[in-house]
Amino acid sequence: MHYGRFFVTTAIDYVNSKPHIGHAYEKIAADIVARYWRSQGSEVFFLTGTDEHGMKVAQAAKKMEIEPKVFADNIVAKYKEAWASLEIGYDNFIRTTDPHHEEFVKNFLQKLYDNGEIYKDKYQGLYCVGCEEYKQPDDLEEGKICPNHKTECQMVEEEIYFFKLSKYQKQIMEAIQGKDIIIEPENRRNEIFQFLAREPLKDLAISRSKVEWGIQVPWDKSQTIYVWVDALLNYISGGKGFWPPQLQLIGKDIFRFHAIIWPAMLLAAGYELPEKLFIHGFLTVDGQKMSKTIGNVIDPIEVSKIYGADVLRYFLFREAPFGQDGNFSVDRFEGRYQADLANDLGNLFQRVLVMAQKFEIKWEYQKSANTYEAYHEAMQNLRFHEALNLIWVIVSGLNQKIDVEKPWDLAKNDTAKLDNLLKEILTNLADIAILLDPFMPIVSAKMTDQLKTGKPEPLFPRKK
Ligand code: MSP
Repeated sequence: MHYGRFFVTTAIDYVNSKPHIGHAYEKIAADIVARYWRSQGSEVFFLTGTDEHGMKVAQAAKKMEIEPKVFADNIVAKYKEAWASLEIGYDNFIRTTDPHHEEFVKNFLQKLYDNGEIYKDKYQGLYCVGCEEYKQPDDLEEGKICPNHKTECQMVEEEIYFFKLSKYQKQIMEAIQGKDIIIEPENRRNEIFQFLAREPLKDLAISRSKVEWGIQVPWDKSQTIYVWVDALLNYISGGKGFWPPQLQLIGKDIFRFHAIIWPAMLLAAGYELPEKLFIHGFLTVDGQKMSKTIGNVIDPIEVSKIYGADVLRYFLFREAPFGQDGNFSVDRFEGRYQADLANDLGNLFQRVLVMAQKFEIKWEYQKSANTYEAYHEAMQNLRFHEALNLIWVIVSGLNQKIDVEKPWDLAKNDTAKLDNLLKEILTNLADIAILLDPFMPIVSAKMTDQLKTGKPEPLFPRKK
């Protein structure tokens, strides 16, 4: 598979609180993809950013008694710091408060309005601020409680604007069936398809009369645009002409917005659909949802300060298959750090370089002729966990080889064999550095450097 250009997007994060490792998980995944395709020669554009309007952010700012934009500025700085500390190399960071974005959203909506895709009507319903979504009574628990946020939904009654979502039902189903939009993993595709086959879509409320913190409806200044409509459009406004994307990465909680509302908006305005929508799972901490109340929110900046960005990047994608839920626990994290990284890879690398130096092996940095097809297959299909497993099969193989062939004995009785053995292992290590690069860019660069200079230094120095 080859792409001339590869446009990858992530969900844009709400700025009601600072980033945690769940947000980081998705952005690292996108960064792995971006680095992988860059290494394959594609022109990559990686878009991420922040979702800043709506009640959720307005309420968080109000609590601190500051203006929403000032509040957002502070959180955005934290996001940017976190992504830098994790080596997340996006090409654009869009904020939905960027004037360019706001202008784009207004124009987009005006166009739909002019084309008769939007009408005004009365609305009465229950709104969950946490989800920024109107809920059906059937979806709620006793006492109008949102099952995701465990908070009571608010009854909202207003005259607002609706988008004719219902008329796109058939077209969306056809697009999913015909793979005009590929939805992965397969179980998610089936889930959404069955949902569409079962439930008639209702038109979508796309404005709010009582929410001030938002983009104004261009033809009716008394209303603001529904935050989800505003947010989804970042993918075009922030894409610098790259639309349509080859891949949109999102979490399972926001699947329906992306598999139904988003394609309908695109179809209505005459845009191409994204090539692929990939839905990842949720990261828990010690098996529990991260929450301030439980006090188990893990700050990615803290983890990377102690272990370095690469260790977290490795752990998150080695532990669980991408697409399924994953779990973070300090024990597992420490365990993998010691076993897989410091011992299996770090010691191997160090031992081999020390021997190469000691036995004066004349080896020049080189890639092998191996094609690693299974690795590429896994990477191109976002099976990161499999790709990492394959790399560690090579690592284990090399460790075994050293145990069996005993280079220290060879040094005494068969130097020609020793020379061949170490050259072969060095070449394999050069390959491993390349294969690891999307996941562990710093470690990979250190490996390549040391293979060129021949000077061994620990890859995973003991943490401070
Ligand atoms: N602002 C919306 C997205 C708009 S996209 C047009 C939003 N923001 S969010 O901050 O709540 O979540 C951003 C992304 O992070 C989502 O894809 C969400 O699924 C993901 N995650 C949030 N918590 C997560 C975990 N605990 N684990 C994995 N991903 C998580 O939704």
